[in-house]
Amino acid sequence: MKILVLGNMGYVGPAVIRELTARHPSAIVHGYDNAYFAHCLTNAHTLPEQRLTQQFFGDVRDLSEQALAGYDAVVQLAAVSNDPMGDRFAGVTEAINQDATISIAKAAARAGVRNFVFASSCSVYGVAEGGPRTEADPVAPMTAYARSKIGSEDALADIDGDMVITSLRFATACGMSDRLRLDLVLNDFVAGALSDGRITVLSDGSPWRPLIDVADMARAIDWAIQRSADNGGRILRVNTGCNERNHQVRDLAAAVAEALPGTEVSINTEAPVDSRSYQVDFSLFARLAPHHQPQMTLAKSISQLVEGLRGMNFADTQFRTSPLVRLRVLQGHIDSGRLSEDLRWHSR
Ligand SMILES: NC(=O)c1ccc[n+]([C@@H]2O[C@H](COP(=O)([O-])OP(=O)(O)OC[C@H]3O[C@@H](n4cnc5c(N)ncnc54)[C@H](O)[C@@H]3O)[C@@H](O)[C@H]2O)c1
Repeated sequence: MKILVLGNMGYVGPAVIRELTARHPSAIVHGYDNAYFAHCLTNAHTLPEQRLTQQFFGDVRDLSEQALAGYDAVVQLAAVSNDPMGDRFAGVTEAINQDATISIAKAAARAGVRNFVFASSCSVYGVAEGGPRTEADPVAPMTAYARSKIGSEDALADIDGDMVITSLRFATACGMSDRLRLDLVLNDFVAGALSDGRITVLSDGSPWRPLIDVADMARAIDWAIQRSADNGGRILRVNTGCNERNHQVRDLAAAVAEALPGTEVSINTEAPVDSRSYQVDFSLFARLAPHHQPQMTLAKSISQLVEGLRGMNFADTQFRTSPLVRLRVLQGHIDSGRLSEDLRWHSR
């Protein structure tokens, strides 16, 4: 098997590479990334890309059909990957997350790729009152990031041919990684508790947020690269996570405080409405992928984060403005003249 992972050098990518190379030791696994966060290694024992057969550097906006020929599976993780970055780089978010995804998928279909896997997001549900959202429920994307995900899914659904296309609507990611990021709710809470003995909840704590550990995202991707059309249809959008991990933000704070006794939790009762609050129904994923279900408990994600951050001697109370936050890294590249506003490296 020959697999190409686009956007493998971020937060989720190293876990995906570890899982795919462990599950398919004889597979050829290639990475392709613009390396915005290449230097953001966190407590990694080895360079994650060493597990690959080969790492390519480049921009997904420039990927040619020729470069996709010969792969059995293509996994598309490359993205401007959260709401604040999507707000700051709205046009680029559409160009990378949506336009590039669609043109790569079309080229992959023409090149004979068997499986295409797209990292979508439950953020497409926006603010969803009432019960858990299923794939059949209407979406309500509230941000440029969420719009780019649903725009991609819709266009992927129109691609003809035999290529099996899976849009994994991931819950919010959490957990330790070789390239940890702290701009994610659980990771932020653990970082606050460790550095300052305090968790600052930016909302009133009531929003619902399903979580998935990066190790479980990797397991789901391993399922999707092998999925056949008779298991879910040739084109599939599937909520990816598990029903037990729908949490309210205040309960996440409480779980971290329980794991790190003495932690103070401050909740912003005056906060404006969060642009994301939804419970998600993951039953379809449970039915289609019984052998690739999430294994990580909330307690385990928290304890691995604590261990990983302690291993980094983490003590930065200003971490929300540090390079452990994706937007800060991109802004730093731009301010230093390395990257243009449209997130292209300046040639020297
Ligand atoms: N982290 C989450 O909570 C979450 C949840 C749901 C879905 N997702 C999706 O999963 C994917 C991976 O997320 P992540 O947390 O690892 O994001 P990340 O920002 O840490 O990593 C994204 C990677 O894509 C690369 N990339 C970005 N633009 C590129 C371009 N133009 N050309 C080549 N490479 C480019 C970056 O260099 C980086 O290595 C993204 O598509 C994201 O939207 C993430």
